[in-house]
Amino acid sequence: MEEAHNKLLNQIQSFVPKTEQELEQFKTEYLGKKGIVQELLDSIKTLPPDQKRERGKVANILKEAVLEKYHFFKEKFKYEKQIHRPDDLTRPTATFVAGYHPITLVMNRIVDVFKHMGFSVAENVEIEDDWHNFSALNFPPDHPAREMQDTFFVNQEEGILLRTHTSSVQIRVMEKEKPPIRYVFPGRVYRNEAISARSHCFFHQIEGLYVDRHVSFADLKATLLHFARNIFSPDTQIRLRPSFFPFTEPSAEMDITCNLCHGQGCAFCKYTGWVEILGCGMVDPAVLRNCNIDPDEYSGYAFGLGVERIANLLFGVNDIRLFSQNDLRFLENFTAGNFIF
Ligand code: PHE
Repeated sequence: MEEAHNKLLNQIQSFVPKTEQELEQFKTEYLGKKGIVQELLDSIKTLPPDQKRERGKVANILKEAVLEKYHFFKEKFKYEKQIHRPDDLTRPTATFVAGYHPITLVMNRIVDVFKHMGFSVAENVEIEDDWHNFSALNFPPDHPAREMQDTFFVNQEEGILLRTHTSSVQIRVMEKEKPPIRYVFPGRVYRNEAISARSHCFFHQIEGLYVDRHVSFADLKATLLHFARNIFSPDTQIRLRPSFFPFTEPSAEMDITCNLCHGQGCAFCKYTGWVEILGCGMVDPAVLRNCNIDPDEYSGYAFGLGVERIANLLFGVNDIRLFSQNDLRFLENFTAGNFIF
């Protein structure tokens, strides 16, 4: 091969295009109708016969080299266009379609409200013993909640059961920690109840506990009012009605102005304008004593709510079974983008 042709081959092989446009120009420069390789081919006619073959070969070598280079970079540019290169690495991905389960959404939201007030979060076992679920909480030995019809036993003789409330975690925390104690306890609980639109054999609770010096019923009331106004609306009203729980004294049930009719009266609140959302009270001194906390020095309040009930109110869901049926037509209402909470 002549030196001039060798030089051309070197030029082709060392060419590196920066853009697709440069690559196309390169191809036309060599292979176009007036391109370098075409000129070589055209020049064959004018050559003496013994040089024709050689010139043809050279033209082919150069043409192959151009095409090889061309196809290599064509693929490279194509690939680079496909790969995702966001300038802003923190922006959300376009393909995000998943969502949280509505119960998780509500639980996270409630826990957040209490976290802002300085509460920590504690979780513990769902298979409990009689002490943590009942005895330490001041349930008398013959209390009906201990019976088979209310409690799922794993082993009734040994008192091993599925916890019926997350109050069991209150005991576990008080046994271990010294006041001040300020916790919320989210979790799943189990009760042997017939499944219907209004009740289920498992559901979710969030309980709360605050034990310190001078904790009063007024503290409890202010905390719950703040909670209700944060979860529902800033003009929500609360009212406390006297009630009974073995582990609190005094005890109360809290109603809020119905979130669906804003206190006007509707089918959900049975036209009273109020709906019950939780139980609460001052921790019974006997419970503190069971956990080696001196009731003469410390007092505390506790409350417990059902997450499904709050979710019903927030979303206007009237059948609790929907939360555990895994029906996508229901769950998709809560996926990202559909739902702002
Ligand atoms: N443990 C009660 C229940 O499951 C709720 C509750 C908690 C009531 C704390 C008062 C204080 O119904």
